[in-house]
Amino acid sequence: MHDTLTLGSFEPETITLDGRTLELRAVRNVPYCAHPKDAIQTLNIFAPEAYFGGGTINGYDAETAPIFCPNTVGGYLPGAADEPGQGRFAPTNAAFEALAHGYVVASIGVRGRTTGERSSEFFEGGRAASEGGASSGVLSGRAPAFIVDLKAGIRFLRAHASAIPGNLECIVTNGTSAGGALSALAGASGDSADYDEELERIGAMMDEPDDIFAASCYCPIHNLEHADAAYEWQFQGIADCHFTHFRKHDGQVVKISEDSTLTPEQMALSDELAASFPAYVSGLGLKGRDGEPLTLGADGRGSFLSCLESELVASAQKELDTKAIQTRLPHLMCEGAAPDEQPYLTIEDGRVTALDWDEYVHAITRMKPCPSFDALDLKTPENREFGDEEVYARHFTAFSQERTTVPAELADPRIVRMMNPLSYVRSEGCCQHWRIRHGSYDRDTSLAIPLILALSLEDAGKDVDFAFPWGLPHSGDYDLPELFAWIDQITQHAS
Ligand code: DHB
Repeated sequence: MHDTLTLGSFEPETITLDGRTLELRAVRNVPYCAHPKDAIQTLNIFAPEAYFGGGTINGYDAETAPIFCPNTVGGYLPGAADEPGQGRFAPTNAAFEALAHGYVVASIGVRGRTTGERSSEFFEGGRAASEGGASSGVLSGRAPAFIVDLKAGIRFLRAHASAIPGNLECIVTNGTSAGGALSALAGASGDSADYDEELERIGAMMDEPDDIFAASCYCPIHNLEHADAAYEWQFQGIADCHFTHFRKHDGQVVKISEDSTLTPEQMALSDELAASFPAYVSGLGLKGRDGEPLTLGADGRGSFLSCLESELVASAQKELDTKAIQTRLPHLMCEGAAPDEQPYLTIEDGRVTALDWDEYVHAITRMKPCPSFDALDLKTPENREFGDEEVYARHFTAFSQERTTVPAELADPRIVRMMNPLSYVRSEGCCQHWRIRHGSYDRDTSLAIPLILALSLEDAGKDVDFAFPWGLPHSGDYDLPELFAWIDQITQHAS
């Protein structure tokens, strides 16, 4: 471990991108645990040069600047410590913009499900480096390694507060998709003793806190043990699947589209899974903004669906009024998603008054087969995530374990719990401030999943900024000015 991290460890550097220059100081590849299992378990810290000479940026200084903590996890793959550079769809990434805005950036490298094997997979939120990875054969990065590593990194940062510019009581995590789930887990499970055994195993600092100030989560793929039922509740009856995934090839991300049709057996599974969802939702005790109970009847309809529809209507209205996504993110917005072109929306005198859910679901199309997450043949990223060094992949729902088509084990419920931020929303260490974004056209998980997280947090008294940005697919970091305005507001920053 890096026992001697001091302000003097930071090296000056200049980064110019898109005609903009950042003067900063950086320290890279700092080991954050005493017994690392993989070379990825290091962190990078970047701070504006101004903070080393008593200067300010945007009103922040070396004492007050929030610590922005982006991860590069996608698809439950390993996520190396990030650094300021190019974005996936923009000349600059979140780390670059955060530094320009006056935040200190600390990015923690974490293991993932392909740690120990070579992989050319790519998922949104990940970093599009060339394909590869060491093939040690030791798959040390399976659940719950990514959150254990993030916690170990956060503890290291907290332990070195005096050597790091910025306010270490003000850590804001950020991630997309599986990385959004990681951010949500960090936000919810602060200081939970559940992770002690795994933290000790990697030699993390055991006397430091790992709670954070705020979590920013783009399309978090989480609540995996309920994701199949939620998906079928949304897409039941739709047989056509339009799957997209990505591969890295020569450092470039290549998109692969595969169309398929659910078999009659899968359609029957879909019906069964869909039928199990209302009892789950109704049992959560969620309440709407007016305090009314949010439930679903046996037919899958009810106040929870009305709440989801009203979130979508509000998002469509915002886009109709501002055209912000069509104007600012035309490259990202799904084709033909403009609200005024949608037969499933009722628009009267410029007001969106209703959304036809069934038509909407048909319009955004189904992406995944059934079951979507806990596949009967153990082939999904999530099945692998619940494997370990001995067992390559596991089921994590009784539903799929009972119907498995291959020899299979069920994941330890302790690990399943440690992977779900919802397990911790009522715990003492759950952070107060949450920003959750999930594109309204994102079909990587059901729209119910992020809504349940947002409502559960609100119910637990948290400050939640939630939206389904109109027409956006599975993606993240697309609204950094708004994200930073939110961070400035929760840190009560007056510039
Ligand atoms: C991601 C996407 C998925 O569809 C999934 O099942 C898991 C992770 C991702 O983009 O990180």
